[in-house]
Amino acid sequence: MKKWLLGAIFAGVVAIGAACSNPSSMQGHDMSNMNMEKENTSAETSKQQLPLATHTEVLSGKEIHLTAKEALLPINDQVKLPVYTYNGSVPGAQIRVKQGDKVKIVVKNELPEPTTIHWHGYPVPNNQDGVPGVTMDAIQPGETFTYEFTATVPGTYWYHSHQKSAEQVDKGLYGTLIVEPKNEEKVDRDYTLVLDEWMSDPNEESHMDMNMSGMNHSDMGHGNRSDGQQMDMSNMGHNMNMYDLFTINGKSGAAIEPLKVKKGEKVRLRLVNAGYMSHKLHLHGHEFKIVATDGQPLKNPQPIKDELLNIAPGERYDIEFIANNPGEWLLKCHGNMKGTDGMKVKIQYEGQANNTDKANAKENLPVADMTTYGKYETGPFTLDQKYDVEYTMDLGTAMGKNGMIFTINGKTYPDTAPINVKTGDLVKVKIVNNSPMDVHPMHLHGHFFQVLSKNGKPVTGSPLIKDSLNVNPGEEYVVAFKADNPGNWMFHCHDLHHASAGMVTEVKYADYKSDYTPDPNDTTNKGE
Ligand code: C2O
Ligand code: CU
Repeated sequence: MKKWLLGAIFAGVVAIGAACSNPSSMQGHDMSNMNMEKENTSAETSKQQLPLATHTEVLSGKEIHLTAKEALLPINDQVKLPVYTYNGSVPGAQIRVKQGDKVKIVVKNELPEPTTIHWHGYPVPNNQDGVPGVTMDAIQPGETFTYEFTATVPGTYWYHSHQKSAEQVDKGLYGTLIVEPKNEEKVDRDYTLVLDEWMSDPNEESHMDMNMSGMNHSDMGHGNRSDGQQMDMSNMGHNMNMYDLFTINGKSGAAIEPLKVKKGEKVRLRLVNAGYMSHKLHLHGHEFKIVATDGQPLKNPQPIKDELLNIAPGERYDIEFIANNPGEWLLKCHGNMKGTDGMKVKIQYEGQANNTDKANAKENLPVADMTTYGKYETGPFTLDQKYDVEYTMDLGTAMGKNGMIFTINGKTYPDTAPINVKTGDLVKVKIVNNSPMDVHPMHLHGHFFQVLSKNGKPVTGSPLIKDSLNVNPGEEYVVAFKADNPGNWMFHCHDLHHASAGMVTEVKYADYKSDYTPDPNDTTNKGE
C-alpha cells in the first residue's frame, strides 16, 4: 500500500523533471560527470542546471546557518537524483554542539516551496518544534527563520523538514544533530551514518503507479480475509522495488566512503534512519555494544556478535566496538530487497585493509532484542504505578475515498482524539498495531517515553527510553512519559506516507497557551 502513496509523490518528481528537461544543457556542464557512462537520463536531463551535492559539513558555534536548497545527488556512478539539501549536501550539515549550549540556527529557505525544520527527538520549547500550522507558519521561499533552544540532553538526534514531510524528507531534506555530553567519554573514531532509500527511475515508477491503484484494491481484499492469510507480498514485490536504491550518507554501494580505523581504536557509529523502511544492519568481524538508542544511554550494554540491529524510521542507535580484527569488513544491510545490497559500508584498517570479508545479505541471523538488552534496573516509570492519563492507540489501515488511509482509533488527523494532559501528568499509552501488514514506527515530539512492555511482557533489559518506537503488525507496546514540556506535540507514524495519510495525533496540554496563531491565508500549513 505504501507504494501507492509513493506513486503520487513520484508523479510530482516527474512533473518537475519534465518542466526542466533540456537535453542541450547536458553538454559540458559539469566536468566531474565526464567519466560517468551510464547516466540515468531521466533524472539527469531534469535537473542538469543544479549544482552537485557536496560533502556534509560539520557546524558548531554560537550561530549556525542552514540554507535549504536544491542540488543533484550522485548516488552512485550511474544515478544522479534531483534532491533537496541543507547547505548543499545529503545528509545536510551536521550540527554538533555541547550539552548546555544555547543553540541558534538561522534557516534560509531557497527552495521553490515553503519548508520548516523539526528537531527530531529533541525536547525543544514547543514554539521551536517546527510543525507548520501547529507551532509556526512555514518558512516561505526566500525567507529565513531563526530557531533557538538549549542543548539540554546529550546524544544522537536528527532534524528534517516537517512541511509536506513525506515528500521533502524523501527528497533528502534532513541532517543530524549531535549533542556531546559535558564530560565526553573519549572514543578514537566517531562516525555518523544516515540510512535512506531512493527511487532510481522516476519515469518507470510513474507508470507503475497507474497499475498500482487497482492492485491495491485487490490486495486490500486479501488483507481483510478472515482466515488470517496475509496479503501476498510477492504481488507487491515490484512495488517495494520503487525504493530500489538504499544509501548510507547519500551514497550507494561502492560510492560509500569506507570507514577508516586503526587496530586498537575504540569506534563509535551513530546510526540514523532517515528513510521509510526498517533496515537490519550486520557488523562483520567484530563484537559491538549498543550504547544508546534515540540518544539515551543503555545500562551495562553487553557485547554482541552476529546479531542484526533493526533500525526503524526515525530511530537512532549508537554502537561501539574495538577495532581488534585487522582487515576489511562490512557493516551491511540484511534482507532481500532490490536495494539491500547497496547499503553496505567498508570498515578498513589503515595499512591492513586486505579483504577478509564476504557479503552475506541473505544469511539468517537473530535480531537484537532491545527489550532484553543491557542490565535491568527500574527506570523512571513502572507498569503498575498510578497514571493520570491513559490512552490506547489502535493503529489501523483502511481504504479511504482517495486511497489507503492510516488510522488511530479509526480516525485520521486532524479528527483523531488528542492525548489531553496538563503539566506534571504521568501518561501511559498502549500502542497496538492492528494493520494486517504495515509497520508503524511511532514518534512522539518533545518528550522521551519509557518502553515498559512488549506484547504484555515487561521489559527485562536496560530501561528503554526512546522517542521513536517500531511497532510491527500484531504487536502491542505500553510506554509512559511525564508531561513536562508544555505545548501541542505531534505523536505520529514516521513512515511519513502513513502520517500524511492520517496516522497522527497530538499530545495537548490544557494549561498551555500558545502565542502562535496560524496564518489564515497560508494554505500550506498542514501539520505535516
Ligand atoms: Cu521526525 Cu514529526 O517527525
Ligand atoms: Cu505507519
